[in-house]
Amino acid sequence: MLFNLKNGKTLRIRKAREEDAGEIVRLSDKIGGETDNLTFGMDDYYFSIEEEKILIRNIRNRHNCLLIVAIVDDKIVGILSFIASARKRIMHRGDMGIYILKDYWNLGIGSCMIDYFLKWAVENNTIKKIALEVRTDNERAINLYKKFGFEIEGHLKKSLFIDGRYYDTYYMAKTIEG
Ligand SMILES: CC(C)(COP(=O)(O)OP(=O)(O)OC[C@H]1O[C@@H](n2cnc3c(N)ncnc32)[C@H](O)[C@@H]1OP(=O)(O)O)[C@@H](O)C(=O)NCCC(=O)NCCS
Repeated sequence: MLFNLKNGKTLRIRKAREEDAGEIVRLSDKIGGETDNLTFGMDDYYFSIEEEKILIRNIRNRHNCLLIVAIVDDKIVGILSFIASARKRIMHRGDMGIYILKDYWNLGIGSCMIDYFLKWAVENNTIKKIALEVRTDNERAINLYKKFGFEIEGHLKKSLFIDGRYYDTYYMAKTIEG
């Protein structure tokens, strides 16, 4: 699916494929070093290319999970993942994660990815709750999530340990009617 970005460039969003694994691992290691808002830092993503391939394959084979990539100028610049369980009692809910290369922040890519994902989630029919954790001081992300109807359901203490300091996170979630 194609979108127009605020800088005039074209954004393409599609499901991740196994051949994206190397680019995704390199991108994740790089973004880990660009922000302290993720559960991993620089070179700390902790997935080999082979493991990433397996992850992509498993997600593609599961009807209630999704991994999408944002592509600008033929380069992957962002990732959105949604992982839900196969267990019947909890298969209606899952966790979302999103990250974008710093050079591409504030162009509307995050909004386009969440929009794409939410349309998929509604059409999916199984998914009724999307949850995520976000650092309490990550205002850009919190604003973005609120814009799409996510609400703060809880305040989790000492969720992250970064450079010798603990950080709290919000548990945010959005429910889908039906
Ligand atoms: C959070 C993230 C995914 C947002 O992606 P993005 O492509 O920059 O998002 P968008 O451009 O669609 O929207 C950003 C919004 O935040 C607003 N914003 C920008 N800087 C802001 C700030 N310092 N404080 C509050 N809001 C801010 C923008 O105005 C925009 O709002 P709008 O759509 O109402 O104009 C991206 O910044 C990122 O990958 N950050 C690092 C990793 C991360 O924090 N991931 C989330 C972990 S929970």
